Amino acid sequence: MRIWIGCDHAGFERKREIIEMLQARDDVEVTDCGCDGERVDYPVIAKAVATAVADHPGDRGILICGTGIGMSIAANKIRGVRAALCADAFSAKYTRLHNDANVLCMGARTLGSGVSLELTEIFLDTPFEGGRHEARVQMITELEQEW
Ligand code: RB5
Repeated sequence: MRIWIGCDHAGFERKREIIEMLQARDDVEVTDCGCDGERVDYPVIAKAVATAVADHPGDRGILICGTGIGMSIAANKIRGVRAALCADAFSAKYTRLHNDANVLCMGARTLGSGVSLELTEIFLDTPFEGGRHEARVQMITELEQEW
């Protein structure tokens, strides 16, 4: 699985930790879309990661800013992206099972390192349940086309 990851200045240190964890796995390939610690406006990085995920169905994205909120709002503007802001394990699990979320957003100022790493693993390792949830995800896709 290919992972596109990005952060703003507030999320830089946390992104470094997540990349380190991902590189220790042999089932993921990580591409870092910035930033490198410099001040950057989060929509720039959200666009880079979200468009990469939208262009490569099956890939996943991870975005980190201070709260994760700005990244999630911006990423969800890109067609085909279902970005989920998560702060707990249950949400990270169920946004994969039910929403087929393809981008995980987290706040570096709201979550500790251990929780962020755990949510990342859950997000990567939980499959989409499909079934009755297919039609609901399809309705989201239709909203994108309609609006
Ligand atoms: C940057 O100070 C901060 O606004 C940003 O990281 C993020 O929290 C926005 O949602």
